[in-house]
Amino acid sequence: MQYDLIIRHGDLIDGTGAPRRTADIAIRHGEIAAIGDLGGAHAQTEIDARGLAVAPGFIDTHTHDDWMVFQSPEMLSKVTQGVTTIIAGNCGISLFPLVTDTIPPAPLDIMRGGYRFESVQAYREAFAEHPAAVNVAVLVGQSTLRARHVKQLVAPASAHETELMRRDVETALREGAIGVSTGTFYPPSSAAPEDEIVRMCEPMRRLGGVLVSHMRDESDRVRESIDETARIGKALGVSTVISHHKLVGKQNHGRSRETLAQIGELARTMPLCLDCYPYAASSTMLRPERVTQCDRILITWSATHPEAAGRYLEDLAEEWGRPRREVAQALLPGGAVYFIMDEGDVRDILAYPDTMVGSDGIPSDETPHPRLWGTFPRVLGLYSRELGLFPLERAVHKMTGLAAQRFGLERRGELRIGHVADITVFDPATIQDRATFEDPRQPAVGVRHVLVAGVATLCDGVPVSARPGRFVTSTLVKTDARAGASAAAPA
Ligand code: ZN
Ligand code: CU
Repeated sequence: MQYDLIIRHGDLIDGTGAPRRTADIAIRHGEIAAIGDLGGAHAQTEIDARGLAVAPGFIDTHTHDDWMVFQSPEMLSKVTQGVTTIIAGNCGISLFPLVTDTIPPAPLDIMRGGYRFESVQAYREAFAEHPAAVNVAVLVGQSTLRARHVKQLVAPASAHETELMRRDVETALREGAIGVSTGTFYPPSSAAPEDEIVRMCEPMRRLGGVLVSHMRDESDRVRESIDETARIGKALGVSTVISHHKLVGKQNHGRSRETLAQIGELARTMPLCLDCYPYAASSTMLRPERVTQCDRILITWSATHPEAAGRYLEDLAEEWGRPRREVAQALLPGGAVYFIMDEGDVRDILAYPDTMVGSDGIPSDETPHPRLWGTFPRVLGLYSRELGLFPLERAVHKMTGLAAQRFGLERRGELRIGHVADITVFDPATIQDRATFEDPRQPAVGVRHVLVAGVATLCDGVPVSARPGRFVTSTLVKTDARAGASAAAPA
């Protein structure tokens, strides 16, 4: 048998969570064509994967890479981690459908300059024309829709405005969005009551899709927020994802036991799961009112004082001889890393069986949170290998099979014959994140080969200038838009 590529003698970790086994894997026409002992088969290219793990390409379930796929299509921060698919449009923030030359309100400003797509279709076509090194699937964001249609962002939307958002949701799903993200934590959406969201998302009742939520409150009212998220998902009858589950503020540390039990209970009656990044610090827009919630705050960017990026607010406050809150106010608009979580909670949440891995990296930050470059190798190296939080097979499942299943990403997430050949080969003994809070753009080590639809994006640890990424749709969305999905693939 003649194949395009054979990866030989690797330890196959197939994405289902099953124990690894040594086998060869062959690729033809961008798909997995054979798995097993392929001693008699030949290929133009062969990779010797002895001693290495061969896994499905990692799926970054939580990103803000909508604009980065165009700005930096080589996607080095993701490719070097073994990521082959990203889900964009999280936290209520999507680039589409919004066309504006002005800077939209925070946190939409993290993708400033990119708001030039009047629809998901326009974005999809642009991506087909200028593909990146990773596949992209998109959610349409609540705050983007509110910024587009709602005049008084500090108030609930009028019936007419809600109807306009509802139409946009319907169009987005028909054009290939995999679902809707809400971001009621953030100013543009915090005034939206529960029933506005249900009305806005009404097309999901018929068309399906995934509801992904950056919840209203991850602090004292986290239980109420989980209940609200679940109620909305249930009212719509859709698969629901709690974004970057965490417990913010010292008084809430240790409550993951309580919230995970609550989520587990709710998940008995509906498809409900979560994503998480493996760090005890969060990162988002700079909010002076939050400075009392944690001791240390690292500035990631500031429009008024660019030189503050990479500095701690505490140090600036001392230098300026002014209170932290005042300094934070003076730095606006900006972004920050908040050392605000408890490591025990991070581990409990990460270890929860239905937790997927999502980096939540913010590529536009001057000094980004290290999760942008380190998330996946950190889960595999630190949390699985070194701390033994879960076996490697389970870690891989969280970033592949589980994610593909929960988002309905067809023929991805598992090593199976007929699946798209999105494959990551890594060294389980050495894989490790290198990015730190002080030096956040350090590529991880240990990822050796990455293939997207059979095309190498990383070869022997070195990024290759290939752009095989495709626009990916979801089987959970029931429209004919999916039919065009593979047609959008580059030839
Ligand atoms: Zn978020
Ligand atoms: Cu996010």
